[in-house]
Amino acid sequence: MTKTEQPRTQWLGRWGFVLAATGSAVGLGNVWKFPYMTGEYGGGAFVLVYLVCILAVGVPVMMTEILLGRRGRGSPIDAIGRMASESGRSPAWSVLGWMAMLCGFLILSFYVVVAGWSFAYLWKMLSGGLAGSSVDDMASIFAANNANPWSLGAWSSLVAVATMLIVGKGVQSGIEKSVSWMMPGMVIMLVIMIGYGAFSGGFGEALTFLFAFNANSLSSEGMLAAMGHAFFTLSLASGAILTYGSYLPRQASIARTTLTVALADTLVALMAGLAIFPVIFANGLEPGSGPGLIFMSLPLAFQAMPLGTLFGILFFVMLSMAALTSSISMVEATVSWLTDNKGLSRRSAAWGTGIVLWLISTMAMLSFNVGAEWTLLGKHFFDWLDFLTSRLMMPLGGLGMALMAGFVLNRASLREELGLSPTAHGLWLFMVRYVSPLGIVVIFVDALGWFDIDFADHWPWLVLLLAAMTLLGELLRPGMKEAPSD
Ligand code: PHE
Repeated sequence: MTKTEQPRTQWLGRWGFVLAATGSAVGLGNVWKFPYMTGEYGGGAFVLVYLVCILAVGVPVMMTEILLGRRGRGSPIDAIGRMASESGRSPAWSVLGWMAMLCGFLILSFYVVVAGWSFAYLWKMLSGGLAGSSVDDMASIFAANNANPWSLGAWSSLVAVATMLIVGKGVQSGIEKSVSWMMPGMVIMLVIMIGYGAFSGGFGEALTFLFAFNANSLSSEGMLAAMGHAFFTLSLASGAILTYGSYLPRQASIARTTLTVALADTLVALMAGLAIFPVIFANGLEPGSGPGLIFMSLPLAFQAMPLGTLFGILFFVMLSMAALTSSISMVEATVSWLTDNKGLSRRSAAWGTGIVLWLISTMAMLSFNVGAEWTLLGKHFFDWLDFLTSRLMMPLGGLGMALMAGFVLNRASLREELGLSPTAHGLWLFMVRYVSPLGIVVIFVDALGWFDIDFADHWPWLVLLLAAMTLLGELLRPGMKEAPSD
């Protein structure tokens, strides 16, 4: 099927995979989305549910993806196809790979627009274009920024070009090299921002907001949003982690690396909260102000603080770097597939992908101005891309991969690849067979909006359902004989 007989590239450094995968995971999702979602869904209780979702669904699915990538030695389509054949199953499973690759690509085509906002705001910070004295002023600056297709298009094209430049350079000298300075740089900037927040007067309030558990603020919608966000923030089911996993050396432990990446991603999200909320509270701004939170409230707050411009610049540099280390991971699956199967050089694969990306992302960008009226079923193109990927393709892909690992693949290969103790292996299997699928089906059903079920109120039923599924699943599991593990 493919002609990749030569050994696959591997990360150069010991930390190559962890840095690149953390770079992928840490992005706009952590610094832009997580804080505003926490603000909207009421703080500590949301944070707790999010942490549970990361552990119960995110970690097992991420382990599965890395396993598929490393053992299948390729981009999602090739790796999943090979894994299925290795277990004597139909190569049609590789449809999961096609979906993941497409999903990463589609995410990128709207992600570059949001990342473009970050670059545009960095420029505004540098050039003093963010002068205004009220939230309304900031809202009109935000609106004006989106209203001009030429400048908005230029910023998102810049992100697309930067992404393709890095990816075109290769796994080691492009991706690995860039993340190895951007990631530490980002963390240093975040720590400086937290340090500043600690003295800005709103730190105590921010701590309470993020970590005080108040069960009353826990809505069913918040729980579902937490689950969906766990997928997005860990870059799952979009080809990114799977393809990065295909460059992971054999001797690295999949479980340990996964836990490191998930922990780092979670810490950065919490740190972003600790950097942003003190500023919001100290300036009497509204934490639940939605997607515009960091673009409208923060610049206002930065103006009121001593050295605010400097911190504002730091903040938007950090956000732009976080976005870039994520965007490069979204096309790696496509670029890797093209170079492995179509005989293209990396550079041509990257630029070819870039041109298609540019066309789609331009359509997405136009949703904010000239194309605001071009809607289908009430959503414009940008919202469709977001909906199709985060609400449908990611949960479906994650479900498929979890079930594939849980029920379809040869158990001896899984055991060999993960190299876990029997108890830890059993726990992972239980997660990918029952816990993760149930969790995913719950978000999925909610996203479709066909039923009006309040899952938060009915959680004991979910526990019962999990128990019943486990019992049935273990009794009726298709008679997969244990292959001798020599
Ligand atoms: N995890 C990234 C973020 O939090 C988004 C992402 C999704 C990256 C899918 C790669 C693939 O911003």
